[in-house]
Amino acid sequence: MSNTVLTIANLHAELRAGRKTGPGILRNVSLTVHQGEMHGLVGESGAGKSMIARAILGILPRSILISDGSIDCLGRQMVGLADSDRRKILGRDISLIPQDPLTALNPARRIGAQMTDVMRLHLGWSRARAHDAALALLNEVHIRDAEAVLRRYPHELSGGMRQRVLIATAFACEPKLIIADEPTTALDVTVQKQILRLLREMQNRHGTAILLVTHDLGVVAKMCRSLSVIHSGMIVEQGEVSDIVTRPEHAFTRALFAATPRYDRPADALSPVPGEVVRELEEKAATFDRARAGLS
Ligand SMILES: Nc1ncnc2c1ncn2[C@@H]1O[C@H](COP(=O)(O)OP(=O)(O)OP(=O)(O)O)[C@@H](O)[C@H]1O
Ligand SMILES: [Mg+2]
Repeated sequence: MSNTVLTIANLHAELRAGRKTGPGILRNVSLTVHQGEMHGLVGESGAGKSMIARAILGILPRSILISDGSIDCLGRQMVGLADSDRRKILGRDISLIPQDPLTALNPARRIGAQMTDVMRLHLGWSRARAHDAALALLNEVHIRDAEAVLRRYPHELSGGMRQRVLIATAFACEPKLIIADEPTTALDVTVQKQILRLLREMQNRHGTAILLVTHDLGVVAKMCRSLSVIHSGMIVEQGEVSDIVTRPEHAFTRALFAATPRYDRPADALSPVPGEVVRELEEKAATFDRARAGLS
């Protein structure tokens, strides 16, 4: 039996408005995640990381269409999968840890109800059994006074606690694959470290494969064994983290390394990564300068 949980092959996605086709959002993306491994997907803002995550989950924006390629997850073809089949898989076989823990939780429902829903729906558990499992999960993610937390609403918890709740919920049905899309970006630095440590601890304990989406190469170097670097919708480098850290082949990966802050280097040694956004801003600034010169 194959030990891969996710195989994306030659995936193309593009922006469409009416009959018009816009620029390619994902271009020939291929990547594989093996059982129990943490694979890092790293790239600059706007590179297409979240679009890959959303393509796997089948929640792309309406204007973005997959024009070619395939996404095989646990032996199922996710491209074109019927919504009814998708609902059975999401939260059970594949789950998501989102970037912003506040908007991911329903503000009007207690933590306990939100955590137990997923187990009652997918595993058919009784309210009492799901409640006990939610308590155990909150203990696992080191939340003190778990019984009281189950009765609270999301706004009553800190950002770090909310992300712990979402991590616990993501593991609730023992999925084979978890997609963590920038799971620490919304948190402050000290909490980020704790959450990453927790994610690794949970992964080791449960043996779950994780696709860790981040713009931070330092995080990938610490957390992952394998990695894909994405730039402008294309995978430009892929392989074992140890190889890529010592011998980055692609100019963009080298630029990413150069832009990663290091405590042993002065801040002025940082270099920005050239990309679509930077180019766009430079063009806008040039147009503005030209217009201003024309006025004076
Ligand atoms: N709802 C949308 N409709 C159309 N295009 C979108 C939409 N959301 C994002 N895009 C475009 O898709 C491209 C990839 O965006 P994506 O959100 O995947 O970037 P990302 O790598 O996740 O960046 P970030 O690090 O900022 O989260 C960008 O060019 C972006 O402008
Ligand atoms: Mg994103």
